[in-house]
Amino acid sequence: VSRKDFPPDFVFGVATSAYQVEGANNEGGRGDSIWDVFTHTKGKIIDGSNGDIAVDQYHLYKEDVELMSKLGFGAYRFSVSWSRIFPDGLGTKVNEEGITYYNNLINALLDKGMQPYLTLYHWDLPNHLEESVGGWLSEKIVKYFAIYAETCFARFGDRVKHWITLNEPLQTSVNGYGTGIFAPGRSENSSTEPYLAGHNQLLAHAAAFSIYKQKFKAQQGGEIGIVVDCEWAEAFSDKNEDKIAAATRIYFQLGWYLDPIYFGDYPEAMRERLGDLLPKFSDEDRELLRNSVDFLGINHYTTRLIAHVTTSPESGHFYDAQQMERIVEYPGGELIGEKAASEWLYIVPWGIRSLLNYVAHKYHNPKIYVTENGMDDEEDPKALLHEMLDDTKRVGYFKGYLAAVAQAIKDGVDVRGYFAWSFVDNFEWAQGYTKRFGLVYVDYKNRLRRHPKSSAIWFSRFLKGDEGKAIK
Ligand code: GCO
Repeated sequence: VSRKDFPPDFVFGVATSAYQVEGANNEGGRGDSIWDVFTHTKGKIIDGSNGDIAVDQYHLYKEDVELMSKLGFGAYRFSVSWSRIFPDGLGTKVNEEGITYYNNLINALLDKGMQPYLTLYHWDLPNHLEESVGGWLSEKIVKYFAIYAETCFARFGDRVKHWITLNEPLQTSVNGYGTGIFAPGRSENSSTEPYLAGHNQLLAHAAAFSIYKQKFKAQQGGEIGIVVDCEWAEAFSDKNEDKIAAATRIYFQLGWYLDPIYFGDYPEAMRERLGDLLPKFSDEDRELLRNSVDFLGINHYTTRLIAHVTTSPESGHFYDAQQMERIVEYPGGELIGEKAASEWLYIVPWGIRSLLNYVAHKYHNPKIYVTENGMDDEEDPKALLHEMLDDTKRVGYFKGYLAAVAQAIKDGVDVRGYFAWSFVDNFEWAQGYTKRFGLVYVDYKNRLRRHPKSSAIWFSRFLKGDEGKAIK
């Protein structure tokens, strides 16, 4: 694959999120988020770690921006920590130190000719909103999110032209309220809460979109969208029941969010299975939701084989709650691709092409950015630095997936950009620091020093059009 396989104005960037990289959790007037509380609860994070320091981008942002720009990336997708702007989330008083930090980051990017892609919400809800209001389970959250979003549009929108309301609402719903492996860690009411949390996220998204459109868009000229995540679900066999199982799985990942956003309501496949468990939109909600994006961000990492089975999986499995007990992942993912370090991550480049084509056909060929794509290595405390920097497998991953994205563009899918996850190794949620997703290695034992891995160097050559040259 080569740079020339993509249109000249195609955007290549790297992505991170605030809690995963910023650190400085108690500095600059920042309030606690639900992830601060969650990580400091015993037993939640596999290595007992947290994002208190993370990779300290709060202090090292200049160096980081310098490095991404040197590597040749044209854009940086980062998220704002809501509790840096409004420490208690209530939206009464702006924390100016938080504004200053993001102003500095945005200005540093623009100075280097890089475009900021700003995510408003990447999972770090101000903890006070969780405790006092009930977080995403309460419709009140919509108003607080709207105040926060409007503040960001007003303060950063003269320079930020690409806005993302929410990152992966599916994960907040399923893992925050179904399995409980992510903050706020609820799983007691997994047959109802995920749908309620999803519903309020959709309403919050629509509110922010409408504020931007009405008050800022004409003057600022930016665009606003949402980021959803979806694995490609490949039917295990040609049997009809397997095909239906795979299709249903996609409705429960992607359709859950995109059907309301494009068509104003949940997919039939969900309404049929869930009945009254699925909240209802009012006519006004539907109106606000319909076509509430200028572009669509898609996070994609892997593909799964999906089969219909007649025995039900162990109870308490989240799919039980979704009344999808006859749909399971075929226990043999390695049949379709090599594994990365994470259990769930099989390397299946063609899956992204299938997914992009699916989205284009189903949702009227929207303008798409691949907002995350990447793979991880296992942290190995005994490995030598040069061994950790030699990530040949990741180079293969990017070559494969980029080639598949280029194919999707040839198929007619309107893909405008691609962001690698992630710029640097960082705090991988429940997996703590045991997994490394970075193109750039972080030496946690030596002042968090950054070292580009082979994949960063490969990407840089790819961007400069000389990827053929050997990698040292
Ligand atoms: C997201 C992602 C990232 C993860 C990445 C690897 O929600 O955007 O979960 O934050 O680090 O997907 O698992």
